[in-house]
Amino acid sequence: MKAAVLREVGRPLEIENVAIGKPGPREVLIRAAATGVCHSDLHFVEGHYPTPMPTVLGHECAGVVEQVGSEVHGLAPGDHVVTCLSAFCGHCEFCVGGHLSLCNEPDTRRAKEAEPRLGTAEAPMAQFLNLSAFAEQLLVHENACVKIRRDMPLDRAALLGCATITAYGSVVRTAEVRPGQSVAVIGCGGVGLATLNAAQIAGAGRIVAIDRVAEKEALARDFGATDFIDASEGDVWKKVLGLTDGGVDHAFEAIGLADTASDAFRMLRRRGIATVIGMIPVGQKVTLNGYELLQEKQLRGSMMGSNQFPLDIPRLVDFYMNGRLKLDELISRRIRLDEVNEAFAEMKKGQIARSVITFE
Ligand SMILES: NC(=O)c1ccc[n+]([C@@H]2O[C@H](COP(=O)([O-])OP(=O)(O)OC[C@H]3O[C@@H](n4cnc5c(N)ncnc54)[C@H](O)[C@@H]3O)[C@@H](O)[C@H]2O)c1
Ligand SMILES: [Zn+2]
Ligand SMILES: [Zn+2]
Repeated sequence: MKAAVLREVGRPLEIENVAIGKPGPREVLIRAAATGVCHSDLHFVEGHYPTPMPTVLGHECAGVVEQVGSEVHGLAPGDHVVTCLSAFCGHCEFCVGGHLSLCNEPDTRRAKEAEPRLGTAEAPMAQFLNLSAFAEQLLVHENACVKIRRDMPLDRAALLGCATITAYGSVVRTAEVRPGQSVAVIGCGGVGLATLNAAQIAGAGRIVAIDRVAEKEALARDFGATDFIDASEGDVWKKVLGLTDGGVDHAFEAIGLADTASDAFRMLRRRGIATVIGMIPVGQKVTLNGYELLQEKQLRGSMMGSNQFPLDIPRLVDFYMNGRLKLDELISRRIRLDEVNEAFAEMKKGQIARSVITFE
């Protein structure tokens, strides 16, 4: 099958023919219908985070089940599924506590000595985040995907697997935004726009969107923003304090920069919570003013929106089908697999929401 392979940091992905295995007892073979291009993929291309190579990137996918292993009971060929990188074992301390996205047990991956899921024994290829979704097919653990209703369009469903679950989970599960609270979202890419939409669904009052690309304002307002700040003009946190009479209850950082994470903390009102969604490059430090801790402010990290994706994704599908979740507007461009490097270039400019690769 065809897949987009990363062989070296900083190099464009190359379309190659990659071998894929047969499902083991608890594995599922999926025919990809669509995969979104997320900034997290780009962080690994750029070497901000390490990953074993060669590998097939991509982690935001929806598709159709082709084959299931002998012990898989909840899925059958023909089922429509959304994948999630938060593969969970179901029995560790974090899973049992409901924090599936923090599961780190090896059970959901193949043992080192086993035939690899991707590539061959002679030329193995590392699977990226349990998924590797810039590919025509995926071989995953059954707890790395969830069945969805058949009437949900698969190209839009793909976005649920990362951008939307991360955004919605960050608002509802990590930060626990309450109706009427004020929210600021820094960065209006795929994840930030979905965060604005999630804040609206959660019943937030004032919703302030912030981006350095002024043209993002209309899109941000469409996703639920009541106010927009052009970050290229500077003084962002001061402007938020001015707009909201002393700061917001919740700030979300959806870029992945240490400085904007600091800003998220500064723009809070007393007892406010800053949730950092963005992946800050390894080695960078976030600085805070110590005295602001006396205002009982909190800084939180969010791994994939603290999701419980087998519950959350079908609910998000219902939100979309009921017209409350914006996915049509999140797809700026539908592209072919061999256009993935252009999608990264487009992403760096910051002008688009999401590019989605669609497969035949
Ligand atoms: N925590 C998680 O589990 C998780 C999950 C998914 C994505 N992420 C991370 O979330 C971040 C956002 O992902 P995305 O796909 O939406 O990215 P994106 O590139 O599509 O969007 C980033 C947005 O930030 C804007 N921006 C860039 N620099 C800015 C600045 N200095 N001030 C204001 N705006 C600025 C850009 O114009 C763009 O609109 C990435 O770091 C990604 O890795 C984390
Ligand atoms: Zn992602
Ligand atoms: Zn676990």
